[in-house]
Amino acid sequence: MRQVPHYLIIGNGRAARHVQYYFSQLQLSYSSWSRYQPYAQLSCALDRATHVLLLISDNAIEHFIQEHLQNSQSIHIHFSGSLVTNNAYGAHPLMTFNESLYDLQHYQAIPFVLDHDAAPFEELLPGLPNQHVRLHKSLKPKYHALCVLSGNFSCLLWQKFFSVLESEFHLPQSIAFPYLYQQTQNLLTQSSTALTGPLIRRDHITIEKNIIALEHDPFQLIYKSFIDCYEKITAAVPTQEVKT
Ligand SMILES: NC(=O)c1ccc[n+]([C@@H]2O[C@H](COP(=O)([O-])OP(=O)(O)OC[C@H]3O[C@@H](n4cnc5c(N)ncnc54)[C@H](OP(=O)(O)O)[C@@H]3O)[C@@H](O)[C@H]2O)c1
Repeated sequence: MRQVPHYLIIGNGRAARHVQYYFSQLQLSYSSWSRYQPYAQLSCALDRATHVLLLISDNAIEHFIQEHLQNSQSIHIHFSGSLVTNNAYGAHPLMTFNESLYDLQHYQAIPFVLDHDAAPFEELLPGLPNQHVRLHKSLKPKYHALCVLSGNFSCLLWQKFFSVLESEFHLPQSIAFPYLYQQTQNLLTQSSTALTGPLIRRDHITIEKNIIALEHDPFQLIYKSFIDCYEKITAAVPTQEVKT
């Protein structure tokens, strides 16, 4: 008879808390363990688990497997977008998990990016209705670098804008929300025409003023790096149609 899947979720951080909540919503059978609990409890939990989800810091995963999972017959899965290992299957949820939990539909819409040699999705994460794709492990470093650039770095830029609006201009963050929504919407609907502003207009005078306005601000370096990068990526292609 086929075994009913039982997950063991290792860790107590952001990803672990979201996954526990999602699994509860889906009524999947799971238990959890984190390192503030006795190791004897880990041992008991491992006896029951068919699947172990290693939702701990990337740099702790390999060592944790070697230290605690050597005798485990269960399927080992990690969620890291960058770690490449033969000791666990990689299933990266292409999503950001912060402190607040999301609703069920939101979790169900998360795509998983599986290692090219991972087990079939239904065996790896049984009971999950999520879509998945596969990526060759050799491409994971670049894939993850792009996740960080697009998601995490743009987050830093928006946090900077929100903070200056409030602390220096005495304006509410919400004044920028329509701009953020529309920029996101334009990227989602037609990414190739989503860029506007002085870069695409080749307005060097405005760009120079922007750089001067950021004097003594660490973000001046970011601005200059983007100009440098934009010049490089557009050097090889014909000038795009000028749009506002
Ligand atoms: N958060 C996201 O948006 C996101 C998205 C996709 C994938 N992921 C992946 O999910 C995994 C977890 O990330 P996270 O964001 O949840 O990290 P996190 O919030 O920083 O939590 C890390 C967890 O790892 C535990 N931990 C660290 N070293 C450990 C060790 N040596 N032994 C046992 N536990 C250890 C921590 O325990 P303590 O609390 O005791 O320190 C904590 O529970 C990572 O592989 C990450 O790449 C995260």
